[in-house]
Amino acid sequence: MHSLIIAPSLLAADFTRLGLEAARAERAGADWLHLDIMDGQFVPNISFGPAVVAAVRPHAKKLFFDVHLMCGKPEILLEPFAQAGADEIIVHVELGDKVPQLLWKIRSLGKKVGLAVNPPTAIAAVQPYLSQIDLLLVMTVNPGFGGQSFIHECLPKVQQAAAWRTEKKLGYRLEVDGGINHQTVADCARAGADTFVAGTALFSKRNMGAAVKKMRQIAQNNDPGLADLKI
Ligand code: DX5
Ligand code: ZN
Repeated sequence: MHSLIIAPSLLAADFTRLGLEAARAERAGADWLHLDIMDGQFVPNISFGPAVVAAVRPHAKKLFFDVHLMCGKPEILLEPFAQAGADEIIVHVELGDKVPQLLWKIRSLGKKVGLAVNPPTAIAAVQPYLSQIDLLLVMTVNPGFGGQSFIHECLPKVQQAAAWRTEKKLGYRLEVDGGINHQTVADCARAGADTFVAGTALFSKRNMGAAVKKMRQIAQNNDPGLADLKI
């Protein structure tokens, strides 16, 4: 069993003060910082690149940097993000033939290896790679924008990935990303997720420490009733 990870997504932070926002996530008791990299090609939006990640890194030294590449050509970005301070790099299974090489390259750079699957893609697509990855990211919105509604139909994919993990005695983390809040986190935990990315639900709170703590409690107890507790 993995420990539970709460990973605020910097995409929902105040972009005029990213260093301070990353430090705020660290002080709030988050375990990881999730960094969404969008290239305007794989997804219809652009976020930020390696220079921004490198600038933020010294402001949150204790946080594990979980870099999610929503990019059509991640092969040109792996080294720059590794150097910028990524601890893990996630690429998408929708990239098809490129995937084996990308996973190998991330590993060879000494980083944790993540693989993501979009809502319309069948979970079977990730099956050949399960023994090679440290984390499987089951997207719970179509990637590109923060603040979207959670897609409940993705939960059976989380359940299937959790079942494979047990059957095959593998150790990958199971991460969910998109529309995760104090309501939806309980369903994800019940389905088998252990790593929770949340942008809007955490960065929008003045008291992020209380919001992180409450999300952790709900995920640990699988109890959506706790969501009604006032932060
Ligand atoms: C979606 C990104 C998410 C996003 C989540 O394209 O991959 O990480 O930041 O944001 P919320 O939690 O606001 O849905
Ligand atoms: Zn993400």
